[in-house]
Amino acid sequence: MSTLTIAGLRVEVAGKEVLKGFDLSMQSGEVHVIMGPNGSGKSTLAHALSGRPGYKVLDGSVKIDGVEILDLSPTERARHGLFLAMQHPMEVPGVRPIDLLLAAGADQHDLRERMTLEAQSVELRTEVLDRFVNVDLSGGERKRAEMVQLAILRPKFAMLDEIDSGLDVDALGAVARRLSLATSEWNCGVLAITHFRRLLQELTPTMIHVVTDGRVVATGGPELADVLERDGYEPFRPVNS
Ligand SMILES: Nc1ncnc2c1ncn2[C@@H]1O[C@H](COP(=O)(O)OP(=O)(O)O)[C@@H](O)[C@H]1O
Ligand SMILES: [Mg+2]
Repeated sequence: MSTLTIAGLRVEVAGKEVLKGFDLSMQSGEVHVIMGPNGSGKSTLAHALSGRPGYKVLDGSVKIDGVEILDLSPTERARHGLFLAMQHPMEVPGVRPIDLLLAAGADQHDLRERMTLEAQSVELRTEVLDRFVNVDLSGGERKRAEMVQLAILRPKFAMLDEIDSGLDVDALGAVARRLSLATSEWNCGVLAITHFRRLLQELTPTMIHVVTDGRVVATGGPELADVLERDGYEPFRPVNS
């Protein structure tokens, strides 16, 4: 059993404090969902966890099983069991999926064969595995390819930023089912940023966290998604900002 703890995280971007004391704690096998209005800092959280330059951590910590993730290089973060899927996956010309996986610590044994099987399970054309990462892929293919990476790396925790944006119903279903399976297959903890309840129909959340203005302002069970659908984020907006 593993624990991911984000505590008092403050992150500055372009001279502005965007995350203002973000707290969230979760365990293996759980599905936590972050919802919040545009500009509330959700992607900033994902970028800060990825160690992206320009996202300056002012304070706070992010620990997996007591180890400070923020002190590690991006590759070490992956090797320590953190998987991140960004809202806008970058094209990486010259790098093939298998290279990424090896750099992140994947076991070389039968790797290509295992990738093929995982691609088939999310209905991704296997020829995509031999192309450069994300180059000339559709939105749906990118997300399915990320699910192949996830399945090979078997991270302790996977954070996915708007994994559902731009996906058709079939791709969304494939991704949600793969994530759901990951929670039982190797007890993966899933932290998903989403705007859509559609994802939550196939991926049952343990907890939902509402984020406004850089911090978690409400936490509840799956029923919170219904409240948000009905009332929007207005009732959750901070009074003094
Ligand atoms: N690289 C960046 N440069 C300048 N401002 C940024 C950058 N990334 C995020 N911001 C600003 O930080 C705030 C939060 O953005 P973001 O984390 O992308 O929000 P969300 O994902 O919740 O929509 C916004 O005001 C956005 O303009
Ligand atoms: Mg975003």
